[in-house]
Amino acid sequence: MKIISIFILLTFLFACAGVVAGASPTEAGTLSHEDFTSYSTCNRCHAITTSQWEGSMHYHAFDDPFYQEELKLASEESNGSLDVFCTRCHIPVSVVSGQVPPIDNPNISEEADEGVGCDFCHSVKESSEIGNGGYAVTPSETKYGPFDDSESTYHESQYSEFYTKSEYCGMCHQITHPASGVVLDDTYQAWSEGPYAEEEEVQCQDCHMTPGITEFEANPGRAGSGAPKRDHISVHNFAGANVFVTGILEEDEHREMAIERLQEAATLEVSLPDNAQPGEEVAIKVSITNSGAGHNLPTGLTEARQMWTQVDIKDSQGREIYSTGNLDKDGNIENGIIYWAVYSDADGNPTLKLWEITDVISDNRIAPESTAVEVHNFTVPEGAVDPIIVDTKLLYRSAPQSLIDELFGGEYDVPIVEMESVKGGINGEVESEGTPGFGSFVGLIALLTIYLFRRKM
Ligand code: HEC
Ligand code: HEC
Ligand code: HEC
Ligand code: HEC
Ligand code: HEC
Repeated sequence: MKIISIFILLTFLFACAGVVAGASPTEAGTLSHEDFTSYSTCNRCHAITTSQWEGSMHYHAFDDPFYQEELKLASEESNGSLDVFCTRCHIPVSVVSGQVPPIDNPNISEEADEGVGCDFCHSVKESSEIGNGGYAVTPSETKYGPFDDSESTYHESQYSEFYTKSEYCGMCHQITHPASGVVLDDTYQAWSEGPYAEEEEVQCQDCHMTPGITEFEANPGRAGSGAPKRDHISVHNFAGANVFVTGILEEDEHREMAIERLQEAATLEVSLPDNAQPGEEVAIKVSITNSGAGHNLPTGLTEARQMWTQVDIKDSQGREIYSTGNLDKDGNIENGIIYWAVYSDADGNPTLKLWEITDVISDNRIAPESTAVEVHNFTVPEGAVDPIIVDTKLLYRSAPQSLIDELFGGEYDVPIVEMESVKGGINGEVESEGTPGFGSFVGLIALLTIYLFRRKM
C-alpha cells in the first residue's frame, strides 16, 4: 500500500513538473571526494558569489547545530536506517563519495564539509526525480550554468536551462518520508500548484537568487574576474526565513536578510467597529494574506516553523480585555491560532520528530496569494475607559521553544520575528508607535491595495 502511494505521488510530481526521468539518482559511495573541487578554488575568480554563499544555510547545511542535533537523535532512534536519507541533501558530496555514513565520521574531506557547495551544485547535469535528493551529479571539467556563451580559462562551461527553473531546487526542497510516504516539506509542490508557477512563471530563483524578495529584480554585474558585464547575474545568498540558526552562527547579514524576507512575506488587515457600548459583543476580523511567498507560508521544516497572531485588547488605562497568542513561561504559544502542519506518529500522537511521522493531523498553512481569516470575539466590559485599543501582530519563529529545549537543554531562546503589526481603536483614535494605527489604518489599506494592484501588473 505504502509503496504504491509513494509511487503514485512521484508519478504525480513528475507529471506536474514535466520532468522526464533521465539518469537515475547518483548512488551513495559511487564517487570520490577528489572528483569535486573545494569552493576555495572557485573563490579565486568568483569572489562575490562566494562571499554571498558563505554565510548561507547552504554553506551551513552540514554544521548547522539544529540539523546536527536532530540528525543524532534521528540516527539513534532509527538505528542508523535514515543516515543516508538525511545526509543526501544536507551534505551531498559526503554521501556520493561514501564518507557519510557514519554520521560522526571525524575525517570528512574539505570538499564534503562545505554543505551544499559550488562544485556540487554546478555539476548536477539533471535530476531523475523531484524531491528526496534525486540528483544525478557528474563532477568534471564542465560547470553547468545559466549562460550559453560563458568562457573561463579554468573550466569548460555548459548552458543548462534546468538551472533557471524551480525543478532544480525541487530536487531537495520537496521531502517525502521514505517509509510512510507523508510529504514532510512541500515547498516545490506548493509552488508548482500555485499562481507563481501557473500564471506568473516566477521561479524559485527569481525570489531567492535576485535582490527582489517577492519577484525578479535584475542584478547587473560580472559573474567572475575578467568576465563581461551582464544585465543580470544571480545572487547566491539563498536567504530564507532562518533567523534562529543564522543568529547562533553569527551570520548577521544573512540573519537580517531573513528578517527582511519575513517582513515582505505577508500582509495583515484588521477590521473593527468604530464604536461599541459596554456589554456589547464585538467581533474583530483579522485577515492574513500570503502576499510574498511563492509557496505555503510558512514552508520548509513544516513540523517546526510557526506563524501566529497575537491580539491584545486593552482599555486606555491598560486594563486587559482580551489577549491571545502570548507565550507562557515555558515559551509555548497560549490559546492562539498557529499556522503550521501538525503530524502524528504511528500511535496517533502529535510528534515533532520527522522520522516518526506517519500521518498529517492538520495543516492550515496559507497557500500563495491566499488569505486566512480569524475572528476574535470579546464583550466590552462595564467601566472600560475609551478608547479601546486593539493591537494585532503577526509573529514567526523557526521552531517551538520546547523542541529546541529538548535538543539543546535550554541553551537557546528561539527568536520571534514581528512580520506585521496593526494597531487600532474603538470609541476613539489611537496613537501608533511607528506602525500604522487607527488614523492611518484606511491609508494602510489603500497602500496594500496599490501594492497588490502593482503586483498584478
Ligand atoms: C544550491 C545550488 C547552488 C550553489 C550552492 C551554488 N550555485 Fe551557482 N548557481 C546556481 C543556479 C541555480 C544558478 C543559476 C540561477 C539563475 O540563472 O536563475 C547559478 C549561477 C551561477 C553562476 C552564473 C553567473 C550568475 O551569477 O548567474 C556562477 C558563476 C555560479 N553560479 C558560481 C557559483 C559559485 C562560485 C558557487 C559557490 C560559492 C555557487 N555558484 C554555488 C546554483 C548554485
Ligand atoms: C580562473 C578563474 C575561474 C575559476 C577558478 C573558476 N571559474 Fe567559473 N567562471 C570563470 C569565468 C571568467 C566565467 C565566465 C563568466 C561569464 O561568462 O559571465 C565563469 C563561469 C562560470 C559558470 C557559468 C557557466 C555557464 O555556462 O552558465 C559557472 C557555473 C562557474 N563558473 C562555476 C565555477 C565553479 C563551481 C568553480 C569552482 C569549482 C569555478 N567556476 C572556478 C572563471 C573561473
Ligand atoms: C542538494 C540539495 C539542495 C539543492 C539542490 C537546493 N537546496 Fe536549498 N537547501 C538545502 C538544504 C539541506 C537546506 C537547509 C540547510 C539547513 O538549514 O541546515 C537549504 C536551505 C535553503 C534556503 C534557506 C532556508 C532558510 O531556512 O533560511 C533557501 C532560501 C534555499 N535553500 C533555496 C534554494 C533554492 C532557491 C534552490 C534552487 C536554486 C535550492 N535551495 C537548491 C538543500 C538544497
Ligand atoms: C514570489 C517569491 C518567492 C518564490 C517564487 C519562492 N519563494 Fe521561497 N520564500 C519567499 C519568501 C517571502 C519567504 C519567507 C516566508 C516563508 O518562510 O515562507 C520564503 C521562504 C523560503 C524558505 C525558507 C523556509 C524556512 O523554513 O526558513 C525556503 C527554503 C524557500 N523559500 C525555498 C523556495 C523554493 C525551493 C522555491 C521554489 C520551489 C521558492 N522558495 C519560491 C519568496 C518566494
Ligand atoms: C530531500 C532533501 C532533504 C532530506 C532527505 C532531509 N532534509 Fe533536512 N532540510 C532540507 C531542506 C531543503 C531544509 C531547509 C528547509 C527550511 O528552511 O525550512 C532542511 C532543514 C532541516 C532542518 C532545519 C534546520 C534549521 O536550521 O532550521 C533540520 C533540523 C533538518 N532538516 C533535519 C533533517 C533530518 C533529521 C533528516 C532525516 C530524517 C533530514 N533533514 C532530511 C532538505 C532535506
